[in-house]
Amino acid sequence: MALPRPRFNPVDQLLVETQRALDTVFGNPPATRPNPAVDTPDVVLNDAERRHAAGLMRINHVGEVCAQGLYFGQAAVAREADTRAHLLDAAQEETDHLAWCAQRLRELDSRPSVFNPLWYGGSYALGVVAGLRGDGWNLGFVVETERQVEAHLDEHLQTLPEADQRSRGILKQMKEDEARHAEHAEQAGARVLPWPVPSLMATASSLMKAVAYRL
Ligand SMILES: [Fe+2]
Ligand SMILES: [Fe+2]
Repeated sequence: MALPRPRFNPVDQLLVETQRALDTVFGNPPATRPNPAVDTPDVVLNDAERRHAAGLMRINHVGEVCAQGLYFGQAAVAREADTRAHLLDAAQEETDHLAWCAQRLRELDSRPSVFNPLWYGGSYALGVVAGLRGDGWNLGFVVETERQVEAHLDEHLQTLPEADQRSRGILKQMKEDEARHAEHAEQAGARVLPWPVPSLMATASSLMKAVAYRL
């Protein structure tokens, strides 16, 4: 069961939120679990394969930056302590994903998206708006986000170079985690988001994917 967390005063809250944003966007927050691909041998990919794998892993890294922004924004305005704890716990596992994707990008001689500050800021703002609608909406956003991330992880597992087993190992573990996050949010009382919210989220996600593949 999630442990209750203290509410901060407004100044402390601002400092905490700033620290979270800086850690996510510019830092390299440490993972709390070992990289699932740690024992998978790294093979040499040709240039085209390496660039494609890096593009996909950059998208996944941005997805995790967005998840952190969304969950921290939602947690900042969540009404119930349980909902807030749920969001912060989910964000903790996303930190592992963020660290694993960043590590794989370095192994592929690539780098995270240059637009990460924008992705984070936009997601945080969306999280605050969702959170202000109430905790049912908050959890509904978690379910929809996790389901959409799960779908694009599936797509990436199909299109990653077959030889890139290290990226595959990371994505498989992430997919398992995202499915669990969605299930927990459903059990915690998520409401089904009305049309057109899921479609708008899918459109924003397609735009993010198109940009993050390259930049
Ligand atoms: Fe994640
Ligand atoms: Fe997740």
